[in-house]
Amino acid sequence: MSFEDRLKSVAAEVDATLDGYLDADTSTIEEAMRYAVLGGKKLRGFLVVESCALHAVPKNEALKAAAAIECIHAYSLVHDDLPCMDDDDLRRGKPTLHKQWDEATAVLAGDALQTLAFEILADLNLPAESRVNAIRKLARASGKDGMVLGQALDIAAESATAPLSLDQIKRLQAHKTGCLIEWSATAGAVLAGADAGPLQAYANALGLAFQIADDILDETGDEAKAGKRLKKDADAGKATFVSHYGLEGAQDMARALVADAIDALSLYDAQADHLRDAAKFVISREH
Ligand code: IPE
Ligand code: IPE
Ligand code: MG
Ligand code: MG
Ligand code: MG
Repeated sequence: MSFEDRLKSVAAEVDATLDGYLDADTSTIEEAMRYAVLGGKKLRGFLVVESCALHAVPKNEALKAAAAIECIHAYSLVHDDLPCMDDDDLRRGKPTLHKQWDEATAVLAGDALQTLAFEILADLNLPAESRVNAIRKLARASGKDGMVLGQALDIAAESATAPLSLDQIKRLQAHKTGCLIEWSATAGAVLAGADAGPLQAYANALGLAFQIADDILDETGDEAKAGKRLKKDADAGKATFVSHYGLEGAQDMARALVADAIDALSLYDAQADHLRDAAKFVISREH
């Protein structure tokens, strides 16, 4: 099976799990949450499922943890698209949530997706200590020391008087994108109570490579394939690896990071091949 087919099949399983948490016809908010969270590549969910497989976490619990991180990710996208943030009208090939409904619904659906993630983790059929660790780490990865901080730095950079330094761009990207990817790739070790060190190193490199690829796609991608508006970052004054290094420099850096990510998995045998493939995928993807 090709990597893309495997990713699609895990995405379908994660969506089926999410479907169990969200009714189609209970309330507008629940309908909007379904709209936001079902679909997409489910790369973060895939990383959870694969890291759980490496650490013998039962598949059913892995899928629930994957559903949880995809709720946080979908919330971050819904808010990222709002007029006060990136002001986008297309996401996953459909109107953004605030275009389909309105801004209040988008804010509230995002909020409710965030809290649902923690409810799902609290109810995992795993030891209490594992659940608390996973919840604490997800709270940190999402909030003022994680994704939210990165988003704040990203928005602040748009109106900065001088271009950000490379270290500042790395810090911004590691937070806005890296932290959720890190939680995902280390989830298996955390839930199994095992050493998350090797997966952490993998995730750090993968997270940066993933965001560099997103920044390259913004410049060179095909909107129909990406399912979102492109060629927006430069005009918005976003601080990206492309704005700092140019396209070729950014591509070289992404390739080097993918090699680092794969090296970080040397302790694991062929069982980690799907994670190795995921690293190659993040920089070759068109969506
Ligand atoms: C897009 O994430 C937002 C970033 C962090 C760059 P994805 O490219 O994983 O989006 P979906 O979930 O597949 O739509
Ligand atoms: C979004 O980054 C990161 C988060 C939602 C946390 P971008 O703003 O670059 O993502 P896209 O390009 O809109 O998908
Ligand atoms: Mg953004
Ligand atoms: Mg955006
Ligand atoms: Mg982008």
